[in-house]
Amino acid sequence: MLRIVLGSDLAQERATDPALAQLLTQGRGSLAFLIGDTDCRFRLLAGAIHWDRVLLAFDGEQPVGFAAFKHRRRGPFGLQWRPFVREFGVLSGAVRFVGFCLSEVREWRYPFLLYGLRVAKVARNRGVGAALVQACCAHAAGQGFHNVELEVPLGNARAERLYLHNGFALRRERWVPFPPVRNMSRTLP
Ligand SMILES: CC(C)(COP(=O)(O)OP(=O)(O)OC[C@H]1O[C@@H](n2cnc3c(N)ncnc32)[C@H](O)[C@@H]1OP(=O)(O)O)[C@@H](O)C(=O)NCCC(=O)NCCS
Repeated sequence: MLRIVLGSDLAQERATDPALAQLLTQGRGSLAFLIGDTDCRFRLLAGAIHWDRVLLAFDGEQPVGFAAFKHRRRGPFGLQWRPFVREFGVLSGAVRFVGFCLSEVREWRYPFLLYGLRVAKVARNRGVGAALVQACCAHAAGQGFHNVELEVPLGNARAERLYLHNGFALRRERWVPFPPVRNMSRTLP
């Protein structure tokens, strides 16, 4: 049975399970040119996860997906420069860290942003993605927000269709940032 839980509501020992951080750092693949592949993203970002900005989907005890969100200038990842320098050296690490910070800060414009959504391959096409999107919208409404916004990379037709089927409408296409995205938003009741 599918269960969706706010990361910060998990028992302490469960929230520190590396498998959850691994799942979460699979996101942000569009920034791979800056923050590397999934293993690298785990090393860079797993040490400072804000679990109050993550909804996790469990099938029994098995984590199968997440929706991460950002509001009040806080998203799922804390900004720590040390792992970047450790990973890439001082110069490249500093440049990549600043690039990542710019990408994070750019999103502060959105009052409530659905920052990332991912479902494990084995669990796809069973409604987990839709359940996470709906749970994220319910969470936003519970926090007093009237809109949920998101950016979907151009060409991600599968995700775009999922959002359309879950109450989101297409807004404008934007060629900045890189890679280009399409804005979508949903008005909450
Ligand atoms: C996009 C993504 C999150 C969708 O997750 P998902 O769990 O497969 O989503 P759902 O199962 O809710 O919906 C997918 C399709 O399965 C279908 N479906 C849902 N429940 C179903 C069921 N019980 N039986 C058969 N089909 C079902 C839906 O109709 C839907 O198709 P549609 O959108 O054309 O209507 C997933 O493909 C993913 O993680 N992709 C990689 C990361 C990504 O692109 N993230 C988005 C970044 S913006």
